[in-house]
Amino acid sequence: MKRLRFLTAGESHGPALVGILEGMPAGLPLDSEEIDRDLRRRQMGYGRGGRMKIEQDAAKILAGVRFGTTLGSPVALQIENRDYANWTERMSAGPGGPDPAAVTTPRPGHADLAGALKYGQTGDLRDVLERASARETAMRVALGAVARAMLRNLGISIGSYTRNIGGIEAVGGADARPELHRHDAEGLALFADCSEVRALDENSTKQLIERIDDARRRRDTLGGAIEVVATGVPPGLGSHVQWDRKLDGRLAQALLSIPAIKAVEVGDGWSAGALHGTQVHDPIHLVDERLRRGSNHAGGTEGGITNGEPLIIRAVMKPIATVSNALPSVDLRTLHERRAHIERSDTCAVPAAGIVAEAMVALALADALLETLGGDTMHGLRAPFARLRLSTRARLGHVFLLGPMGAGKTSAGLILSHRLGRPFVDLDARIEARAGASIAAIFRSAGESEFRRLEQIALEEACEQGPAVVALGGGAVLGEFAWRRMREAGVTVRLHAPPWELARRLAANEQAVEARPLLAGAGDTAGKLAEILREREHWYARADLHLETTALTAEEVAGAIVGLLRTIEGPLAPLAGGSGRGSPTAPDEP
Ligand SMILES: Cc1cc2nc3c(=O)[nH]c(=O)nc-3n(C[C@H](O)[C@H](O)[C@H](O)COP(=O)(O)O)c2cc1C
Repeated sequence: MKRLRFLTAGESHGPALVGILEGMPAGLPLDSEEIDRDLRRRQMGYGRGGRMKIEQDAAKILAGVRFGTTLGSPVALQIENRDYANWTERMSAGPGGPDPAAVTTPRPGHADLAGALKYGQTGDLRDVLERASARETAMRVALGAVARAMLRNLGISIGSYTRNIGGIEAVGGADARPELHRHDAEGLALFADCSEVRALDENSTKQLIERIDDARRRRDTLGGAIEVVATGVPPGLGSHVQWDRKLDGRLAQALLSIPAIKAVEVGDGWSAGALHGTQVHDPIHLVDERLRRGSNHAGGTEGGITNGEPLIIRAVMKPIATVSNALPSVDLRTLHERRAHIERSDTCAVPAAGIVAEAMVALALADALLETLGGDTMHGLRAPFARLRLSTRARLGHVFLLGPMGAGKTSAGLILSHRLGRPFVDLDARIEARAGASIAAIFRSAGESEFRRLEQIALEEACEQGPAVVALGGGAVLGEFAWRRMREAGVTVRLHAPPWELARRLAANEQAVEARPLLAGAGDTAGKLAEILREREHWYARADLHLETTALTAEEVAGAIVGLLRTIEGPLAPLAGGSGRGSPTAPDEP
């Protein structure tokens, strides 16, 4: 890893797992529930053994976070092992031993023999197997959830699902859920989580469960394959310039470090070897002044650099090494041939491995992102990240203006739209025109949730139309959906000012306060605005560009936005004459 570092410690039946993640930027909202959610997902899955019934994994945040926000200092986590209560003497760190139930017959396929020979621990293989156990991956999932929170905050989404178990192929993501597979990997994973084997349809789920039941009947174990998908990944992560900076290599290492993962495929890796170049490489097109790929056989990387397409990586897990129909082995105490040791164990852990793989991809991707963009703070990452995200565009696409009421979205937006030579869309005005009622009336008659639904539809419509300057209502950005759509369609600009300044502007227009349902009736407008801003700050903070508008006229705000937009134009913009000017140069003859 180049910018992030992480370490885990802890034995499978010791008191706890601990982990330290260093290099996370300051200012990331982090809720321990986000971590626990992934820990619960890792514990699920048909084919797991008895241990998962004992553990109820939850992470305790020991360091690096204050009032729900990262500090930039190392994040330290702890996960208690509930099973330790049953092992206190046998796993004691104090003097004692030997263990009356020492393990001396190594399991083929596990770390027992190789580890014991290396560390001279042939007298009790538990000294090896306790750390080699995949229990350690619970901490990787927890640390990965922290990395994932950062990526999600910037618009990168990671998910996985099961591709096959024991040779039975499950339906692929591109067939079962093409929209999610292309645009919302986390949504895809949530869908997979509904299946006990993390497959994407009922038929596959049934077949995979039958396969696991059959293995269990035979007292045997199974492996399989998972696919990890990352959507919203900007071009430009990783580098071709040095072998150890290539992202595909870094992702492969991250995945191969997971216990029992024995092969990794990037895009159509294995099948590509049997095809022609014309069948494998993804054509490049120019659609709506934006570079688009006709397919994604490459799996989102070329030259070890992300190319703006979703990352698609598959990993193969070998069958679980602890087989109750135990394989021949040798007792290292007597050197007599005996059946291998049997430890309480999973029959198949492919569904859980998918969650571990998501975590490792999150850590590797977060590392590459921070390597490319620097980033001591989340705020410092926004504009450079937007520049990468928009780099396949000759023009920036939509310009979305966000911020609270009174921030100047409409007045500056109108002027900006003239400057950029594109239409102006006031989302609130559109909703009112459609509904034939004022926003205050919609709130009164149908409630806030109905208004938010109408807002979502209006935003979706605006995104579908040609590039415009779009002023959003103050609360339109309070959900992942809005952010995903806006980031796909263009650039987000946040206008802000302190509550007293917002209140002053609103007071200048007598109807303004009463027309805004969240302010109506609030005696202290500035106080109410301060409260709304506090609640929404973590959403507004996500904007690509930020402009403090106090003491600026609408003209000046519009001018400043044009300047800010120029700073995130990508390398193709000069060919198109920059944002809002001229038209693209005529295409070269083939
Ligand atoms: C989520 C997960 C659960 C696992 N559960 C078990 C298990 O219950 N029993 C077992 O023998 N191996 C299990 N493994 C695999 C072993 O940890 C792994 O085979 C062992 O550490 C040796 O490492 P290697 O297979 O990478 O060589 C699991 C792996 C993962 C990712």
